[in-house]
Parts: sequence; structure tokens; C-alpha cells
Amino acid sequence: MPDSRVPRPRRFLVCEPRHFAVQYAINPWMNPGTRVDIDLAQEQWRSLISAYRAHGHTVDTVEPVPGLPDMVFAANSAVVVAGRVFGSSFHAPERRPESTAYETWFKSAGFDVYRPESVCEGEGDLVPAGRWILAGTGFRTTRAAHHEVQEHFGVPVIGLKLTDPYFYHLDTALFVLDDGHGGREGNIAYYPEAFSPGSREVLARLYPDAVVATREDALTFGLNSVSDGHHVFIDPGATALAAELTRHGYLPVPVDLSEFRKAGGGIKCCTQEIRS
Ligand code: ARG
Repeated sequence: MPDSRVPRPRRFLVCEPRHFAVQYAINPWMNPGTRVDIDLAQEQWRSLISAYRAHGHTVDTVEPVPGLPDMVFAANSAVVVAGRVFGSSFHAPERRPESTAYETWFKSAGFDVYRPESVCEGEGDLVPAGRWILAGTGFRTTRAAHHEVQEHFGVPVIGLKLTDPYFYHLDTALFVLDDGHGGREGNIAYYPEAFSPGSREVLARLYPDAVVATREDALTFGLNSVSDGHHVFIDPGATALAAELTRHGYLPVPVDLSEFRKAGGGIKCCTQEIRS
């Protein structure tokens, strides 16, 4: 384990939760009767943006659209690799218009946007991990989308099957700690029980030194974290995982997004990474 981990500055795209609410239920965390404290949600979201900026990251914002309460979950709108944008095609009809709103932003920022044919939800299920892309399926993104992603980027896609509805997106059960930039060994943190037996074996084979999280860590959205290679922006409730990360030389930066858990979201869900 290196003595000091190396952070790499990132460019993030986010969307203010101005119209955030729980109006429909498309995952087990959502209960349409739940009241969201919008002031608290805004305050929590702003603390995430401040934390990113304070640690040297660039943050761009897309204008929120009224009537799209989940648009705050920027991760689902695309996956960007080497400046190429692979858009999204949402499973739930309620979220489908978000794709167009994000596409408009990407185009105005000078990116071409590929529109996928198959159902796929951006970085929610498609997680670039250096030499390959880890890709979840089971609840949202389809196997067909995995093939489409591989053809589009020419990067190997490793399909992983999610089996627990509480961890319906790959980014609720796994995050990349280090993408192996600069010749380092890539690594991840994950919750094995969220995956099928075969997928667990694949992950153990690819990442023998992975940080393994507990169910408690996962249920508090501790795996919905963002790492820059050194700092890990993480839910303050994921205490066991934070201690484990510290042992591995990472520096946990706690950010509380508890209001967003009512919609089944956390830190990573609110963050799209624009990889150049
Ligand atoms: N309510 C949203 C949904 O179920 C939450 C999305 C969370 N985003 C994520 N990247 N996991 O689609």
C-alpha cells in the first residue's frame, strides 16, 4: 500500500435539487407519501459542491427542469469516457425526458452525444474503471446496453449481475477507489452480497485487494461514494467502511445527503464525471 494516495482533479456535472421530490416509486427506497425537506436537501447538496471545490475539483451545473424530480441524480444521464458522451435511455418513463435535458447541456458544452438504443442509465450502472468498464444489469441497464457501450468506446465491458432490489444500480453497491491512472493498480470498494455468485467471483478475481463493505455500510449509501484517488466523499453513516478506507491510505470526506436517500440516491448519484 502506498504511503500517500494521489488525488487527480476531476470535472463534475451536477444539477441543483430545486425541483427534487419523491413523486413516484421506481426503487424500494421511494415512498410517494414521503415529504422531502427541500431546504435541507438544497443545503446538503450545496455542501457536496463546496466539498468538491475545496478539494480542487471543477463543478459544472445543468439547469434543473420543473417536473423532473430525479434530475438531481446527474450520474444517470450519461457516461463520459475520453471526452465521448454515451447518453442514457431510462427504464422508467417518468425519467425519460431527463436524457434530452442533459443532452442539450452536453451539446452546448461542445460534446457530441451518442443516443443509445437499449435501456441504460449512465454511470448509475456503467462505471469506468481504467482499462475496462464495469457494467451492472438486473434492474435497469440491459445486457444489450453493455454490448452497445463496448462497441461505442472500444473498451472491454465487464457485465455484473445485481440481485438485491435495494442495490438496483451498480453505483449503490460498488465504487472505484483508484482507476489505475499512471500505472497504479486499480481498486474498488464493494458489497459482494449485492451481486450474483458468478459476478462476485469475477470481482474477486479482478480485485483481490478490494475494500469489502458491510450491509450496514451499503444501506447508508456508503458505496455511493466518489473517490479522486485520495479523498473519498462518503456518507458519514458508513463508519466501518470509512475506517477501512483510512487503513488503506484514503482520506474519507464525510458529506451527509440523507434527504436524497428518500429517493434512493446519494453522493455518486448526484455526480456525473466528465472524463477528458
Ligand atoms: N430515484 C432515482 C431512481 O430510482 C434515484 C437514482 C439514483 N441514482 C444513482 N446513480 N444510483 O432512478
